[in-house]
Amino acid sequence: MLGQQVAARPASIGVLDSGIGGLSVLRQLHQLLPHHSTLYLADQVHLPYGPRAEAEIITFVDGIIRFLLDEGARVIVIACNTASAAALHQARATFPDIPIVGMEPALKPAVAATRSGVVAVLSTQATAAGAPYQRLLDQYGQQVKVITCVAPQLVQIAEAQTQHTTEGRAAIQAVIEPLLQAGVDEIVLGCTHFPFLMDAVQPIAGAGVHLIDPSPAVARQTARVWPAAEALPLPVQHRYFTTGSPQQLQMHLGHLLGIAAVPDALHWDAAGALSR
Ligand code: DGL
Repeated sequence: MLGQQVAARPASIGVLDSGIGGLSVLRQLHQLLPHHSTLYLADQVHLPYGPRAEAEIITFVDGIIRFLLDEGARVIVIACNTASAAALHQARATFPDIPIVGMEPALKPAVAATRSGVVAVLSTQATAAGAPYQRLLDQYGQQVKVITCVAPQLVQIAEAQTQHTTEGRAAIQAVIEPLLQAGVDEIVLGCTHFPFLMDAVQPIAGAGVHLIDPSPAVARQTARVWPAAEALPLPVQHRYFTTGSPQQLQMHLGHLLGIAAVPDALHWDAAGALSR
């Protein structure tokens, strides 16, 4: 009986985001840690997180982590800059025994690499306004000019994968053009949705502008915090959950990661818990 329960809930890395953005981190995890099972949860019914209040995001993240732990997560990856800015501190306080990996805009490498002395950070409202980003600006933002560019429209474009439509390209151009005029040569992708726009952003930004995707570093950090004593169950299992449309997430999994999987639908109850 116990054996069956363990088999149904293999020790896994639990990854969360408001939508498909965290898949940019998940693909790095799959590459770096091919023997680890993973759980991916997209809270798409609440997307976007960017314009939401911190307290609200803290409640969502708390409910998601509880669900992922119930499903076998041994490490949590908050694969969302917005959720990390709002809720990482609280999550670590609530679950002190669980390693929780968070994200923040990769300002440090951008500042180290810039030749023009002007860098940009593309993010959501909540990330830009959050205390962690303000601390980063205090630490690294003095040495060069940092342009903080809040671009929630890019989250919607990435989520709908409309970056190659006329409207999508025009919206990206409207964000990137003023950064080029300001002399930016490093653009930090400070939202996990944005790596999925790289093939549309790079041609607009030009070859002289470097886009920084922090997801490989997040995968490496996850590898470091995986509990050494934890056995890796076989077979490796990757499971997907969404509070939105499973069909839509299934389509994106195929299109973005080449993964054929049928996600499970989840529902929030009035008490802030997730269930199937
Ligand atoms: N993917 C998320 C991030 O990294 C945010 C998108 C949203 O606004 O929900 O910030």
